[in-house]
Amino acid sequence: MGEVDQAFIQSIEHRANLDTIEIEGIPLIDLSLSHTTDINLLVSEIGNACKNWGFFQVINHGVPLELLEKIKVAAKAFFDQPVEEKRKVKRDEVNAMGYHESEHTKNVRDWKEVFDFLIKDPSFLPASPETEDDEIRTLSNQWPETPPQFREVCQTYAREVEKLGYKLLELISLSLGLPSNRLNGYFEDHTTMMRLNHYPPCPCPELALGVGRHKDAGALTIVAQDDVGGLQVRRKSDEVWVPVKPTPNALVINVGDTIQVWSNEAYESVEHRVVVNSERERFSIPVFFFPSHYVMVKPLEELVNEGNPPKYKPYNFGKFFVARNRSDYKKLEVQNIQISYFKII
Ligand code: OGA
Ligand code: NI
Repeated sequence: MGEVDQAFIQSIEHRANLDTIEIEGIPLIDLSLSHTTDINLLVSEIGNACKNWGFFQVINHGVPLELLEKIKVAAKAFFDQPVEEKRKVKRDEVNAMGYHESEHTKNVRDWKEVFDFLIKDPSFLPASPETEDDEIRTLSNQWPETPPQFREVCQTYAREVEKLGYKLLELISLSLGLPSNRLNGYFEDHTTMMRLNHYPPCPCPELALGVGRHKDAGALTIVAQDDVGGLQVRRKSDEVWVPVKPTPNALVINVGDTIQVWSNEAYESVEHRVVVNSERERFSIPVFFFPSHYVMVKPLEELVNEGNPPKYKPYNFGKFFVARNRSDYKKLEVQNIQISYFKII
């Protein structure tokens, strides 16, 4: 990734403004409040954050802090290896998990390299986005031999974040006025994926982006980031790009498209992107909570009524996901699919 190739260059309206701005950031929520008697306070904080921002950070989240440190060290040790070593676990159109160095978001190349793995190995997804094709594909992980302990640290971290994911899904259910376990059934055969992101320093940070603007397709994303910064969220109230300030020991949470649909837009999946810089490399580790592939996503019955009719037609999660990710490998001439496609006008 030496020179900035044309493939990385964002159109003018999507380039980052690299001036540092001090503006109101996303909410910071202390999850230790869940141990107190007043869980309602925590539930309403979560509800407000989901409604007003779609993004928040959590502290006292239960993921051991030494593990958070270890996973960042493991990510650096993996990406520090020569590219030939990393390519031994290269992801391709048959094996979707592993190392990948040329991801595209909205058909522009991202300034990053990634390593992906599934929390449930194997996981199952449709073989193609075509509705008439009911073939299911088995996805499994590829693990590098080096660095030593990489696999163990990744899997231990993933298990801890999975627990946090269920806790957050429960808090979100409560905040929607539903029983705490209302969403759990959709995750029985979840296709949740963890990703290690490495954003190398970029000679032209004003032209390229680490990840172009996008919304996450799943239910929920939990991101660990280092102290470099670069993640930005499009603020709902005025569409200004707001930086997510790296906060020691915190994890960043965002609501994805699936929760937007389940909640019938009470909560919104918000656009975000990653800005790069010319000085420091950055590491981030998102875990994307995806439902089981066969789940039909639609506004929850308890949340719709005559006055608030469903805003989306039901869609199959797996088919949507596969269709959307088709553009990861190559620059397509068309926009990838968005949930707006299922919107009832
Ligand atoms: C993503 C993403 C944020 C980050 O990978 O979908 O939004 O901080 N990453 O790397
Ligand atoms: Ni994202």
